[in-house]
Amino acid sequence: MPKPLNLVVACSENRIIGRGGRLPWHIPEDLAFFHAITRGQTVVLGRICYETWPGVAQDGRQPVVITGNRTLARPGVHFVASVAEALTLAQTLPGEIMICGGQRIYEETLPRADRLYLTLVHAEVPGDTWFPEWRHLAWRETEHRESHDANFHYTFSILERQ
Ligand SMILES: NC(=O)c1ccc[n+]([C@@H]2O[C@H](COP(=O)([O-])OP(=O)(O)OC[C@H]3O[C@@H](n4cnc5c(N)ncnc54)[C@H](OP(=O)(O)O)[C@@H]3O)[C@@H](O)[C@H]2O)c1
Repeated sequence: MPKPLNLVVACSENRIIGRGGRLPWHIPEDLAFFHAITRGQTVVLGRICYETWPGVAQDGRQPVVITGNRTLARPGVHFVASVAEALTLAQTLPGEIMICGGQRIYEETLPRADRLYLTLVHAEVPGDTWFPEWRHLAWRETEHRESHDANFHYTFSILERQ
């Protein structure tokens, strides 16, 4: 039985996930949630996400970084050249498979995602990186928690593919 594919994303109502190589917001509660659910798991991510997450290999995470750069190397980090290679390797590593973006990696994996950990930020924000449209797919929401800080209202959802 292959392990399920989990996507983890924080996304605005207009599907923005990034701006200028960073998150378009600073939401401490979401960062804490993200760190907690990826702790001890295999995290699959693109090279830019990897470079902006210095602690990616901490807390028992097994990073699988997708890049065309064959010269990258770091102890405890796996570098692969494609999503297909990443998912094959991820099946052999400890913990659950958590796909952490960015855009192209979400686009390639959303059609076969089993579960989506979605933080929906209830705002329309400018940005340059998108999450693919997911709302037309059939999901069953198994968790739903609304929250807010001084700047944003957001909802933590767990969506299971039907
Ligand atoms: N809100 C969220 O939940 C969330 C999540 C993730 C990211 N983000 C944001 O999104 C932005 C980063 O995402 P991004 O899409 O720009 O970059 P990214 O996916 O992190 O990295 C892009 C790089 O990854 C490699 N890559 C990606 N897909 C590949 C594929 N299918 N095959 C081979 N290589 C592939 C390439 O590396 P090489 O150039 O080395 O070949 C590519 O240049 C940032 O702003 C970040 O903050 C937000």
